[in-house]
Parts: sequence; structure tokens; C-alpha cells
Amino acid sequence: MTVTLNRIAQEGEHGSAMMPIMQGVGRAAIEIAYLLRSAVFRGALGAAGGQNVQGEQQQKLDVLSDEIFLDEMRSTGHVCAVGSEEQEELLVIEEYTSAPYLVLVDPLDGSSNLDVDGPVGTIFSIVKRKTPSDQRPDVSDTLQSGREVLAAGYVLYGPATMLVCSVGAGVSGYTYNANNARFEVSHLDMKIPQSGGYYSVNESNSAQWLHGMADKLVSVRHTQKLGMRYIGAMVADMHRTIIKGGVFLYPADSTNVTGKLRLLYEAIPMGFIMEQAGGKAHTGEIPVLDVQPEALHQRVPVYLGAHNAVDGLIN
Ligand code: AHG
Ligand code: MN
Ligand code: MN
Repeated sequence: MTVTLNRIAQEGEHGSAMMPIMQGVGRAAIEIAYLLRSAVFRGALGAAGGQNVQGEQQQKLDVLSDEIFLDEMRSTGHVCAVGSEEQEELLVIEEYTSAPYLVLVDPLDGSSNLDVDGPVGTIFSIVKRKTPSDQRPDVSDTLQSGREVLAAGYVLYGPATMLVCSVGAGVSGYTYNANNARFEVSHLDMKIPQSGGYYSVNESNSAQWLHGMADKLVSVRHTQKLGMRYIGAMVADMHRTIIKGGVFLYPADSTNVTGKLRLLYEAIPMGFIMEQAGGKAHTGEIPVLDVQPEALHQRVPVYLGAHNAVDGLIN
């Protein structure tokens, strides 16, 4: 029998509560995958003309993916608000302000790859609200550390569309099967190999890296015999790192002293997945999941990968 996303309901303490939201993520993923495939025919490639809160050029597909994701979260009936990389403020779902969960999302990750038909992704995490259900949810509900995350994951829009997720009981990968329109389990209990693999970083920034990072990376890549791969889309680079081993990093540099990647939309969900896959997720100072968020769009340096590879860079 085909094993689908419904399997999540049997996993861990929170699986059954998370399953309807994961199904919503799955529906959003199918719609976004279709949008990406057909964008060139619909005039949906290129800049949207606006900037997001971080001052980055929004692509039309960033905006459309954000709309799709929000709509699917609304349709679950279990989500009271969504924090999105593409929205300055928390988006409260007015029909369900008393629902128990909030979702944080980077709806389209790696959007600089869109012009070159390269892989992109969606990253998300799910937390339980802190405010009482008879109050309107607010930003304080989103400012929870990775230790409080109930579930997280990513969608990779590659040759196949994959949903990789965890409810805190290991990591599973589901691949979209267009023949039956379902996500079928394809990767059980994903674990990062603890040796070999690749280092993955935008090395063109190495002259600006802080804390002797360039020298540490040379040493780690020699002692651990790592190859090099960099796609420039965190989802694709992380997915390869989990499957092949090694380390993905986006360190602080002299212009981005707090790093580039966003704590709530990128670092925490990917840190959650990396730890659940038996790897390590660190900021260079503390584990990513121990960082107490202070703002929705906060950034943080990240080192995600096999223990030895991460340790060689942060010590
Ligand atoms: P986004 O497209 O959501 O803004 O994210 C881009 C991120 C991430 O996907 C990737 O790891 C990183 O930016 C690449 O940055 P550089 O182009 O500086 O290497
Ligand atoms: Mn991103
Ligand atoms: Mn994005």
C-alpha cells in the first residue's frame, strides 16, 4: 500500500496534531511546483517591483508563492497566524484567530536561481501559540527558540518535488507522485553521514569572513577530504548535505556581521531538521536551536552538518 504524508499522524508526540498542517504544506508545495513549471508561459518570471522588509528585490514568484502558502495554511483551520520572510508584519488569519498553531515560512528560498531554472525550495516551522486562544495572536507567539518548535521541514523543487520534514521523531522524505497526486514516503529515517561529503559555502566572501574562518575551512576540507558544491539555494544545499555528508555554512563577514540567513525562516527550521538527522547546527557561538529570537526578521550565522565538520569550523 502507498505510504503518504498521513503517516506523520503516527509519529512522535505531536504527529497527529501536525498532520493536517503538513498536508496543507503538501498542497502548497504542489501548487508552487506547478507555478514554477509554468511561470515562463504566464509572464510570472522576473522582479515584482517591490522590496521585502529586508530590502531585497522581490520576484513575482516570491509574492505568488507567499500567497499560495498563506492560503493553504488558512485552509487547515489549525493555524492562527503566519510569519513570512516576504511580509513585514505577522499575518493573522482572521477566520481562525483562536487556532492553536503558528507557521513561519520562507515561501521561496533561493529565488536568485529562478532566472537559470535552478532548484529552489520552501522552508517552514510550526510552533504552538503562547497567547491565550481568546486573544489575538501577536509577534510574541513567533519569538520561540528552536527547542520549542513542534515540527519543521522543507520542500525541494528539483527534478522531483520532495517534502522533507520532522515532527521531532527523526526525518522522513516524501516525493510527489504526479500519477496519484500524493506525496509518497521515499526516504525513511534520513541520517547525515558522519564522514565524507562536501563543504558548501559562497567562497567569494572568504576575504571578508571573520574569526579566521577561511583558514579553518582549508583545514577542515583537507583533514576530512571534503569536495565542494554550492547551489546558492539553502534548501538544495542542505538536502545534499544531509544525504551526502559534509557541512553547509553561511558565516558572518565584515559587511554582514550577523550573517545573512534568517533565524526564524531559515536557520531554526533547518537546524531542527539537521539535529533530527543526527547532525549539528551551530551559530559559531551556541547551538542554533538555543538562540532566543528577538525579532521576526533577525539574521544569524549558520554551520549545519556532520559533527566533525561543524566542530572543525566553530572551535
Ligand atoms: P532567499 O532566496 O529566500 O532570499 O534565500 C537566499 C539565501 C539562501 O537560499 C542561500 O543559501 C543564500 O541566500 C545564498 O546567498 P549568496 O547568494 O550570498 O551566496
Ligand atoms: Mn531563503
Ligand atoms: Mn525566500
